[in-house]
Amino acid sequence: MAYPGHLLLLLALISSLSTIPSAISQSCSAARSLPFANAISLYSNCVDLSTLGASLHYTYDPTNSTLSLSYVATAPSSSGWISWALNPNPNPAEAGMIGAQAVIAFKDGTGAVVAKTYNVTAYGSVTESPISYETWDRTAEVATGGIMRLSAKFKVGADAVAKGLNQVWQVGGSVADGVPQMHELKEGNKNAKGVLDVVSGTTTSGGSGEGARTKRKNIHGILNAVSWGIMFPFGIIIARYLRTFPSADPAWFYLHVFCQFSAYVIGVAGWATGLKLGAESKGIVYYYHRNIGIVVFALATLQIFALLLRPKKDHKYRFYWNVYHHGLGYLIVVLGIVNVFKGINILQPDNKWKHGYIIAIAVLGGVAVLLELVTWGVVLRRKSSRSTKPYGNHSNGQARQPL
Ligand SMILES: *[C@@H]1O[C@H](CO)[C@@H](O)[C@H](O)[C@H]1NC(C)=O
Ligand SMILES: *[C@@H]1O[C@H](CO)[C@@H](O)[C@H](O)[C@H]1NC(C)=O
Repeated sequence: MAYPGHLLLLLALISSLSTIPSAISQSCSAARSLPFANAISLYSNCVDLSTLGASLHYTYDPTNSTLSLSYVATAPSSSGWISWALNPNPNPAEAGMIGAQAVIAFKDGTGAVVAKTYNVTAYGSVTESPISYETWDRTAEVATGGIMRLSAKFKVGADAVAKGLNQVWQVGGSVADGVPQMHELKEGNKNAKGVLDVVSGTTTSGGSGEGARTKRKNIHGILNAVSWGIMFPFGIIIARYLRTFPSADPAWFYLHVFCQFSAYVIGVAGWATGLKLGAESKGIVYYYHRNIGIVVFALATLQIFALLLRPKKDHKYRFYWNVYHHGLGYLIVVLGIVNVFKGINILQPDNKWKHGYIIAIAVLGGVAVLLELVTWGVVLRRKSSRSTKPYGNHSNGQARQPL
């Protein structure tokens, strides 16, 4: 039932899903050449932050434990915001957005660029409020477009400096009625935190638990991409095209069952890792990715049980069973592939992973289009030589429509 047109549509859909804009990097060196009012090079240190292409320029004065800093980053839009924060939570793994004592820079209603303080207590919305650090000389400026600089002085305390400061940074795309709005939830946004050692001038990213979580996310991604994204479509190709050849009967059937069942087992493992990641992700829910994942799993489970209810080849209901089984199969493949791309957009791995997956899918799609043409050629030739009725009671040895 999948004509080449459907496959081309699928390929077009995939290529449209695969265009992700990438952030412009404001590394230490790039930031120094920006047209800011006060030279940023006057700070004695600078660290390139591990995500969002941002950098932190600072001077630490140990005589009064004061940190003077400028944070430079690119907001996703010219009406966006940038933010830098300290989180006094003693456990670096828990020192994320919640509890952050933040300074947020943005253009207010009059067009003036302001830098205000926020005690961040919940995901989603923020309210201007005093913070637990004494801050002063808070200013902000816009270089060009979304490139912004936030400057402030923080009284940090010598003990905290000795332990390492938990810093959190962020960028967001919009401000409504003077209130910075929720930022995106890409990996780069979520991992925008780390421990800053102002004395040695180094920054380490993430808490201790973060590395293990990233590893689990990668495993989740690989299991699901291989299962729903590659093996399921491959199993469909086997069923759809091998059965045209009488000599491949019943081998195609066992191959198909073997391939889909292995894909299902791997897919269930990937699905379970996804559930665990979802349960751990407090406050951040990827609704589309999660819901598509649940639907795909449910449909695939139904598909496995459909095998048990399969009527005999010449049973009058077999035609309807076939329509149901094939329809569900194509739906699973489309949703599976869409969800792999949604997952890639969330995880933001190196581009080579995404390109690798696009190539794998394109090869499968190309093979399918080619086999589709070959199959119809074979079927039409047999039909003209034996004038077999399409969708008729075909027994072994006769031409089959690739339905
Ligand atoms: C700490 O020292 C810096 C630089 O000498 C100065 O600008 C700042 O005002 C001082 N802060 C306090 C709280 O004394
Ligand atoms: C920030 O919010 C928390 C939770 O509501 C509160 O316990 C804390 O005192 C607040 N900090 C400041 C400086 O207001």
